[in-house]
This record gives sequence, C-alpha cells and structure tokens, in this order.
Amino acid sequence: MRFDERRIQLKDKRECILRPTMPDDAQDMIEYLKLTSAETEYLLRYPDEVNYTLEDEKEILARLLDDEYSVMMVAVVDGKVAGNCSINGIGNKRKIYHRCSMAVALYKDYWDLGIGSAMINYLCELAAAIGYKQIDLEVVAENKRAQALYKKCGFIESGKRHNALRFDDGSYHDEIIMYKEI
Ligand SMILES: CC(C)(COP(=O)(O)OP(=O)(O)OC[C@H]1O[C@@H](n2cnc3c(N)ncnc32)[C@H](O)[C@@H]1OP(=O)(O)O)[C@@H](O)C(=O)NCCC(=O)NCCS
Repeated sequence: MRFDERRIQLKDKRECILRPTMPDDAQDMIEYLKLTSAETEYLLRYPDEVNYTLEDEKEILARLLDDEYSVMMVAVVDGKVAGNCSINGIGNKRKIYHRCSMAVALYKDYWDLGIGSAMINYLCELAAAIGYKQIDLEVVAENKRAQALYKKCGFIESGKRHNALRFDDGSYHDEIIMYKEI
C-alpha cells in the first residue's frame, strides 16, 4: 500500500526517512537482501537464495504497492537504503483475515540507531489502519537483540517451535513465536 513518508531523528542525530518501497528501489532491494542475509544468520535466506532478477523484483514491489493489505517500508539514511520492514496478510481465508506477519532487517551499519523501533511502531499504526487485529512473527531463539526490540514494541512471547531452522553447518535452532494485539 501507499502511505505517508515519515521523517525521524536517529540516535546519532541523522535524519531517516520511512517511506513505501517503490519499483525503482528494486536494484537496491536485491542488494539489500543479499548483503543482510550475509551479515546475520538470523534471516531465513542464505545470500545464494536471493535469485530475483531486476524485472522480478520491480514487479513484486509494484504489486505490493498496489496491495491494500501489505506494507513494504524502506528506511533511507543519507540517500541510502538502511533497512526494510514489511507486513503481509497470513492468508486469504476469513478465519485468519485478522492476522498479519511482520519481518524486519537492517544493514549492520545501521543497527542500534532507533530505526528498528521507529519502523515497527509505524508498521503497527498502518496494520491497525488496514484493519488487522494481530501481528505475528517468529524469531530465532538466539536472536536476543531482535527479541528485546519486539518486547520494547509491545510484542509478547507465545511459544517456541522446536528445531524450526537447520543451518548449513548442520546445527538446529528453535524459533520463538511472538504476537502483538493492535
Ligand atoms: C533486530 C534489528 C532489526 C534491530 O533494529 P535496531 O534499529 O538496531 O533496533 P533499535 O535501535 O530500534 O532498538 C534496539 C534495542 O535493543 C537493544 N539491544 C541491542 N542489542 C541487544 C542485546 N544483545 N540484547 C538485548 N537488547 C539489545 C538496544 O539497546 C535497543 O534498545 P534501547 O533503544 O532501549 O536502547 C537489527 O538489529 C537487525 O536488522 N538485525 C538483523 C536482522 C534481524 O535479526 N531481523 C529480525 C529477524 S526476526
């Protein structure tokens, strides 16, 4: 969906713009997906699993922009993409219409500046405006930084999925399930 741009001041006093991700951001977003998944193991993808062509990515971003039930937000600092945050409906059955899922990731250079909190708080406002009643997410059990951020933004832990992830080194990792009623 389209939504109003929001400007925030970061902990280091720089300005950050939160705005819809546009089809013209496609190249930056492909790079972002590849690099952020190389910087942390806590995202679902490995870098070699980012296989979108520029055309694919443009099409996806255009579709999400027109989708009234999805939000694809990008954070821009000094004209550069710092990170991205999104919500999507869980599914197209009436019994689950009230729920959406959320994802967030920033380049490491932009961690701990307040961008994650600002993006999530804005997303919660937008999710409520769309009509969702609950936001769901899963986070790797070892990812304490993200869990601290989600708790700060009002998310509550509701369970654990055993061995939800198997990394390339053969190690298994649980996922913590969290939700926020909005
Ligand atoms: C998780 C992530 C989005 C957080 O974004 P961010 O912009 O750094 O978050 P903020 O700066 O808004 O807030 C982070 C908070 O966590 C705290 N924190 C940082 N490291 C922490 C740790 N190891 N344990 C507990 N709290 C921690 C910070 O002090 C800050 O709290 P404060 O504002 O009260 O001081 C970012 O680190 C990231 O992109 N990580 C990699 C991808 C990822 O893990 N995504 C989530 C997948 S579920």
